[in-house]
This record gives sequence, structure tokens and C-alpha cells, in this order.
Amino acid sequence: MLNFQELLANEETLDPATPNDWDSMRRLGHEMVETMFDLLQNIRSEPVWTKPTDTMKQFLQTPLPVEPQNPYAVFNDFCDHILPFPKGNIHPRFWGWVQGTGTPLGMLADMLASGMNPNNTIGDHSAMYVEQQVLSWCKEMMGFPAEASGILVSGGSMANITAIIVARNAFGEKLARQQGLKALSGQLLMYTSVEAHMCIQKAAEICGLGADAVRKVPVNADYRINLDALKQMLTDDRAAGHLPFCIVANVGTVNTGAIDPLDELLAIARAEGIWLHADGAFGALAKLVPEYSEQLRALEDVDSVAFDLHKWMSMNYEVGCLLIRNAEAHRSAFAVMPNYLLAHERGLAAGPESITNYGMELSRGFKALKVWMSLKEHGIEKYRRIIRQNIAQALYLEDLILTTPELELLAPVPMNIVCYRFCSDHLNLEAVNTLNKEILMRLHEEGIATPSYTLLEGRYAIRMANVNHRSVKEDFDVLVRETVRIGKEILAVASTKGATVMPMV
Ligand SMILES: Cc1ncc(COP(=O)(O)O)c(C=O)c1O
Repeated sequence: MLNFQELLANEETLDPATPNDWDSMRRLGHEMVETMFDLLQNIRSEPVWTKPTDTMKQFLQTPLPVEPQNPYAVFNDFCDHILPFPKGNIHPRFWGWVQGTGTPLGMLADMLASGMNPNNTIGDHSAMYVEQQVLSWCKEMMGFPAEASGILVSGGSMANITAIIVARNAFGEKLARQQGLKALSGQLLMYTSVEAHMCIQKAAEICGLGADAVRKVPVNADYRINLDALKQMLTDDRAAGHLPFCIVANVGTVNTGAIDPLDELLAIARAEGIWLHADGAFGALAKLVPEYSEQLRALEDVDSVAFDLHKWMSMNYEVGCLLIRNAEAHRSAFAVMPNYLLAHERGLAAGPESITNYGMELSRGFKALKVWMSLKEHGIEKYRRIIRQNIAQALYLEDLILTTPELELLAPVPMNIVCYRFCSDHLNLEAVNTLNKEILMRLHEEGIATPSYTLLEGRYAIRMANVNHRSVKEDFDVLVRETVRIGKEILAVASTKGATVMPMV
């Protein structure tokens, strides 16, 4: 039996133990801030990527710490082993996948949020109101009505699955939530293009619909959904007794940035009486740019839109947003009222409605703070200019590629993504693919730039996705120059070895 009297005679906490320890921790905090500011301010002179060493990997395979260590020593370990091997998405020449850059104030905001450390799901406290404020700004950005609902989530994947759960539960007689899919008279089906992000399929799997419930509609040469094929699939599926319930429009496909025709999809969804969700993980933010506002105007009318704030709004990881036009449908998909979460009239248990009524998570951090601080720091006009600048840079890169004989553009550039490859007339497809994969790996290994990659109709593409507020025009000159240099070097070595296909050295 635990002897509480004895134990409570020696109570302790995880805080610094003495005033001196507090002072020491305070100084450490300042040192940490200095370290990170040095890094951010000088990031351009760093390699974009540095391969993690074996020493570092071994260092991170030690047994569970048992005894306390000095916080300075722990910070030193961080500086020696963790900080030198960052992913690199804070660097001006990081253009991999679609990953935002973050900002200094965003970093500090995360520290403040972590210091306050609210579990932001329920209660009458400031963080709940900050989140409400931020959501109403998000609605304004997307042209959604004030009475729409929304939620901040970890990112695009969570935003998309949350929307699909709402669409599923709102379907028809709204039986799915209570009775499960077996209560429905047929198989629920959703429609999106073959270019949709894989999180849409994952969402269907997790929602119990199954991957086969995602009808993958072919695309046209510009990678936008083929509307005739979509209509035909809807007709055939209805004839077969299935239950179409949702179309997912891609507002910026992950491969090439293609934007599906929103007005037409909206008309089809309305005619079919089904939900139209827009996956605008990065592309929805282009709505802020004058040249795109008309093309993306229909975002104001979709049933739901998912977009990341950690991508094109440069908020520090992680934060995404989902907006749902029909707040009641949103609430009905998630609200539960257990005794321990009942709202009170007064006291801490009063305040805004519990956020858990609008999503899966109960425990949630204060990610709204960095959104609030960042939007106030820069104002929406600055974001508009940065997003526009990123698109202009992508068009500049497109231009460079088109005028560089060694390079080939592999897809149209509708927004901020450029897919290209180094080409050689003497190599077959497999060899060209291998060559470009090798170029990409060397661009990374030499710390020059970190575009990522994709396959477009079997062709390996070096893929540059620009949501980087630190990039400048010259960075794209570097990318092109170095791609060509590395490509030529590899070919030169291969030819001295008399190779017929690309043997990688
Ligand atoms: C179009 C699209 N949808 C969804 C996602 C998933 O977003 P997240 O990585 O924030 O979960 C991405 C990520 O790049 C994306 O490009």
C-alpha cells in the first residue's frame, strides 16, 4: 500500500526547483531563442539538406533516460545532433512535396501557445475565442458565409477526412452515423479525379466506405478532371443501384497544381443532389490572387473546403482548416454530450460550444494562436502578394525550362508547381527516368535545392512546388543551372564508361 504521508512529505514538481534554477532556465530560454534566430536569419547560407550521420542515428537510439539531466546538456544534445539535420523546409530553395516555410513570429507564437498550454476544446477561456476569431477570418478569406462552421485541424488530410465524414453522415436519410453503412440501400460512392491526393482514398477507407468507393475519374491532358467521364460514371453507378454522395474537386492537384473546373463540378453536384467538397490544401489560397479569383469564385459555393495554413500561409507546422457551409450538418456528424462535457451557465465549463462537437479530436493544442498572430502581423494583403509572387516565380521557372535546351517541361504550369526533366536524345525512357532520379538525389545530397519528384505518365519528373516565402528569382536560376550541370556530369561519366543505359555511379 502506498504510504501517502511519507510521500507527501517530499512533494516535487517538474518545474525548476529553486529561484536559481528558474533563472538558469530563463537564461536557457533566451539562448534557445538566440540559436533559432541565428539559424533563421542566416538560413540562406546553409545547405538545404544535410544527410543525417550515423553518429546522430546512434545517438537517438539510447535507452530510456532514468536519471535527470541538466537542461543545458539536453539543449546541447539538441544543438549537436538534431538541429544540424533539419528537413530544410525553412530554406529558400526547399520546394519538395508541398511544404510551407514557417515564420519567426509563428515560431514564437508556438512558444507562447505552449507556455499557456490550454487544451483547446472546451471552456470559457481566451484560446476558445481566438479560435473562433481565426475561423471567422478563414471564412472571410474563402468567401464563406459567417454562419458556416469550421475547425482547425492538423492539416489537409485531417480536414479532408473530416469533410468526408460530414458528407457521409449528411447523406439521404442521415442514417450512417447511428446505424452504420449497412442501413443504406446501396453502396455510397464518391468521385474525384485520378490526380486526387492519396488522403482522399485513405479517408474513404477509414470512413468504412472502402477504397473501391472512390471512383477515380480520368483527367484531360491538362490534368483536370474529365467532366464527360464523371457524368458517365455517375449515370452508370446510379443505374447499378449505387449511391453517389460526394464529389471531391481538386483545387490544385498535388502532382501538377491543376485546378478542376469548379463551376461545372458545382453544377453537376447540384443536379445530382450530392455534396461538393474542395480539396484546396494549397490551391484554395490562390483565391486571394486577383488573377485566380474568378476561376476559384465557386469555392464560395461548395459544401466544404479544406485548406492548409501551414502550406501557402507559411504558418508553422501544423495547422489546417476545414470550412463547412451547413453548420448543422457539421455538428450532427460529431456532437456527443457525455455528462463530463456538459456546458454550464457560468464558470470555466461555460463559454463557446465545445470544439469536439465539430471533429474527432478531444485534446487539441492552441494552434489558433500562431494563425491569429501571423494574420495580424502580415495582414491578408501581404499573404496575397507572397502567394502571387510564388506563382510568378513558378512561371519564371517554366520560362527558364522552356528556353534551356537540355530541359523539358513535363506538364502545364497552372499555378505554383513545375514538373520538368533533363533529357537526352540517346536514352530510352527507363534510362531518362533513372538519370533524373539521380539528378534529384544529387541536388539534395549537394545541399543545393530540394525539389521533389513524381511520375507523369511513366516519366520521372523533378517537381518544384513553391509555397516558399523566402525564395527569390535567383534561386530558380540556381535550380536550372545545377540540374543541367549535374545531368551533364552524369552523362559524361556514363559515356566514358561506354554505357548504353544509365548505370548510376
Ligand atoms: C492536394 C493536397 N491535398 C491534401 C494534402 C494533405 O495535406 P497534409 O499534408 O497537410 O495532411 C496535400 C499535401 O500536400 C495536398 O497537396
